[in-house]
Amino acid sequence: MKWYKNNLTKALNIKYPIIQAPMASAASIELATSVSNAGGLGSLGLSYYKLENILPDYQKVLSKTNGSFNLNFMTHKEPRSNESKNKKFKESIKKYFEEYNINKIPNFSSTCDSFNENHLELLLQMSPKVVSFHFGLPKRSFLKKIKEQNIYIISSATTVEEAIILEKSGVDAIIAQGYEAGGHRGTFASSYKQGEIGLFSLLPQVVEATSLPVIAAGGIANGNGIAAAIMLGAKGVQIGTAFLSCPEASVNSLWKNALDNASIRGTRITRSLTGRPARGIINRLIKDMENKNNIVPDFPTVGSVIKPLANYAASKGDDSFLSLWAGQSAPMNRNISSKKLVELLVKETTNVLKMYKN
Ligand SMILES: Cc1cc2nc3c(=O)[nH]c(=O)nc-3n(C[C@H](O)[C@H](O)[C@H](O)COP(=O)(O)O)c2cc1C
Repeated sequence: MKWYKNNLTKALNIKYPIIQAPMASAASIELATSVSNAGGLGSLGLSYYKLENILPDYQKVLSKTNGSFNLNFMTHKEPRSNESKNKKFKESIKKYFEEYNINKIPNFSSTCDSFNENHLELLLQMSPKVVSFHFGLPKRSFLKKIKEQNIYIISSATTVEEAIILEKSGVDAIIAQGYEAGGHRGTFASSYKQGEIGLFSLLPQVVEATSLPVIAAGGIANGNGIAAAIMLGAKGVQIGTAFLSCPEASVNSLWKNALDNASIRGTRITRSLTGRPARGIINRLIKDMENKNNIVPDFPTVGSVIKPLANYAASKGDDSFLSLWAGQSAPMNRNISSKKLVELLVKETTNVLKMYKN
């Protein structure tokens, strides 16, 4: 039996169990469709999309691939307004606005909507093969409608407790998101601290505790990593960071440069850029806010306040306030096309697993 043939690849109708992570800010249509065309599962993160742009972009996807496809939404709780926190946060970043001579610190406003009735209606209309959610799941009545339409449902767990909740809620597969992962922690029911578990520990525990296919995510960047995930019981992998260095990704030159220097700069989890813990390459804001994460207001309102700083600094070639999301394996990134990357990952995994035959 070939390593890439299993119940997950069968259910998703894909050749290889390699899912390109739905990276809301970075996964372009070109990246996602090229992964689907190469036999993996391409994904588009729709959380920051304006509602009216979702359908036209999905139509572009359909014009570029016949392969299975995954649409991804965030399911965060609405932010609580906390005037005292907002004030403290503004106080702490005032110095940067002064330094850049930017007059006004903007007000806090939401940068993305949680999955709602409008998204549901569109999703049912588009009816992709797969939908994945981050930060838990939408409400039960929404899930029921999605299931009735036979759309395969996936969500991320950062603890065994969350994996069990997802299984009981009726998902079809669970992503075990290790602490190495780039971007936002998917944590939704456990405390963020509880979710600080590396993939090597989390994955076999989720496999043991649930009866669904488990998809490994976090720090996987080559065939050895995929083979290790399979050995630990995963039926597939979800890879984000490794795809960021492909030319098809929507990654600007500052972010790309940071990825190229990730081994020197390192990555860290921060709340300071969006209001929720997320891993990115260390920059000035992450460093300065290291011990002030408790004064950061709720996701997703922080981005609106940071934006003028990020834009101004970026215009001067400075990434001090940018979200340089990346996982701990970023130094392993290869600057090759996403098609080549999928082919190479398959080849490497096959070679590694061959060594264990007999
Ligand atoms: C730039 C970036 C953006 C991300 N955005 C999303 C997102 O919108 N939705 C989501 O479910 N996961 C998102 N993630 C997390 C991934 O789904 C996945 O857990 C992670 O990329 C796996 O770790 P790796 O980056 O080490 O491969 C993002 C990750 C990165 C690196």
